[in-house]
Amino acid sequence: MTRIVAFTGAGISAESGIPTFRGKGGLWEKFKPEELATPEAFMRNPELVWRWYDERRQMIKKAKPNEGHLILAKIEEEADYFVLITQNVDGLHFEAGNRNVLELHGNIWRVRCLSCGQRYYLYETPLKEIPPRCQFCGGLLRPDVVWFGEMLDPDILDRAFRESELADVFIVVGTSAVVYPAAYLPVVAKEHGAFLIEVNPEETPISEIADVVIREKAGTGMKRVYEILRERGDI
Ligand code: OAD
Repeated sequence: MTRIVAFTGAGISAESGIPTFRGKGGLWEKFKPEELATPEAFMRNPELVWRWYDERRQMIKKAKPNEGHLILAKIEEEADYFVLITQNVDGLHFEAGNRNVLELHGNIWRVRCLSCGQRYYLYETPLKEIPPRCQFCGGLLRPDVVWFGEMLDPDILDRAFRESELADVFIVVGTSAVVYPAAYLPVVAKEHGAFLIEVNPEETPISEIADVVIREKAGTGMKRVYEILRERGDI
């Protein structure tokens, strides 16, 4: 049995029209992350942070999975064992059909109540009330995503590390691989003997340890990955 793990970042959603964080046209070019994506920023001005998230939710709602997402869904269908670890919060991997997905940084459609702790999916877009209030207790809701300075969910993180250690093939797509602890995963996979494939139009810290580097956008690059998996007999 071949265990295939894919690890994705914002670059896989770029061709769906969702801007990446870093690099040209990246989101953080226009906004300072410490002003928006931190718990302190939220407590200072929940309305501002929610307005920003509401805009992103509207943009994501219009976005459709692209070729890169769809090939990953096809790989899950055909593989003996496949898990997708994503840093993205846009939910497009689910929309494309992937089911075994670990969302390291949360999901932009999920909210969490700061008063009663309930977590639920809230798809209303645009939001009628900003900041939105908990449907159970009326408390202040926050997006259920991981902000700068916050811990990742330890269970999800543990599982992501375990999957990376066990991977036979590890595919890295569209991540700058500079945000930790997520960026350790390809390194751990490689150290444990995985065949490492990178798809990214630009060089990253992963490029030098990868067995195969595909300098293409996710759509074209994933087609090549699919062929490689076929040639190797992994799927
Ligand atoms: P980044 O914005 O840091 O990196 C995007 C990567 O995608 C870059 O390496 C680009 O070269 C590449 N890229 C751009 N267009 C592409 C395309 N069409 N196909 C393939 N690759 C493309 O995004 P992440 O690595 O995901 O964290 O960033 C990691 C984390 O930083 C995010 O999850 C977010 C942010 O802070 C949280 O929200 C906690």
